[in-house]
Amino acid sequence: MTLEDILHMNSGSGDSSYANNSIFTNIVMQKTAPFLKRTIKGMANQDIFFDHCFMVADLGCSSGINTLLVAHDIINTVHELCQENKRKTPLFQVCLNDLFENDFNNLFKLLPAFYKTHRKDKCEKIGPCFVSAVPGTFYGRLFPDKSLHLIHSSYSAHWLSQVPEGLENNMLNMYIAKTSPLDVLQAYGKQFNTDFTKFLRLRYEEMAQGGRMVLTFHSRSSLDPTKDECSTFWELLTMSLLEMLKEGLVRESDINSFNLPFYFPHEDELRNIIEADGSFALDDMDIFEVNWDQHDTDCSNRVKKTTKLIRAVTEPLFTSHFGNSIIDELFKEV
Ligand SMILES: C[S@@+](CC[C@H](N)C(=O)[O-])C[C@H]1O[C@@H](n2cnc3c(N)ncnc32)[C@H](O)[C@@H]1O
Repeated sequence: MTLEDILHMNSGSGDSSYANNSIFTNIVMQKTAPFLKRTIKGMANQDIFFDHCFMVADLGCSSGINTLLVAHDIINTVHELCQENKRKTPLFQVCLNDLFENDFNNLFKLLPAFYKTHRKDKCEKIGPCFVSAVPGTFYGRLFPDKSLHLIHSSYSAHWLSQVPEGLENNMLNMYIAKTSPLDVLQAYGKQFNTDFTKFLRLRYEEMAQGGRMVLTFHSRSSLDPTKDECSTFWELLTMSLLEMLKEGLVRESDINSFNLPFYFPHEDELRNIIEADGSFALDDMDIFEVNWDQHDTDCSNRVKKTTKLIRAVTEPLFTSHFGNSIIDELFKEV
């Protein structure tokens, strides 16, 4: 089985679902909203903007409300700009992309409310917005040549196309950790470089003349990936697996062969890849920290929320490798 067949966030809208635990990614999107607005405003002088239909793609949309909230923001910004420029607001096509196993049905159930708000907000001043799902990997072609005016992707492009090769030495780690040897760091960096370069080239083919792309990554602040503050959580999960190993609940060989398929790049790596590839010019780059539970002073509450989010994001990966009998125990131990 390939990663494409396994990877998805927890489905549905229940307690462990991504839809119910996407508050963190929602806060990230709120932080990037002014950036997205600025980008759209930068397109305002171009005729492309006033084409008959404004084509938007959200790549890695998942199954929660966030993708529709961002679509709503984009439509509002375009509409405001058209009014300022005394132009007719275009029709909108919003294409929601994710992998085949994504719970698109959960998204579809949110559409009636989305369409209703769309009509109400604009007092019927704009035509309909057409939302469609585009299942498939963003490491392959998803759209016709030169068709997209705006490509958006939040918290998704740090997922790799596969677990990097050559991680045999990453014993008792599931991601880059303090004890990971140099060749493991290099294997992750190389896989990200290959994947992100491919992503840029594919999007270049799909983007209309004058189009823009806004990408949000989980990145890291230190050049040294072993110093990544975010590795701590994966190290805690490894400790939890090791406890379960002592209890005979998991096999050591399974722990050794499990590695997570994402990479948190440093801003310099992103810049270098974009420049080396040359498909896109980098207009702007912003780095920000997100404290998603700043108003929650209760430490055990914060741990619970983080654990639920990590479970919603990674459970299918753990299940496909270790089986589903360990999941409750694994996340209980963290
Ligand atoms: C953490 S979720 C972010 C979802 C959404 N953008 C948000 O902000 O709430 C990351 C999503 O990226 C998707 N994803 C990962 N790799 C992908 C790929 N190669 N092609 C399409 N989607 C992918 C995952 O399935 C997942 O739904």
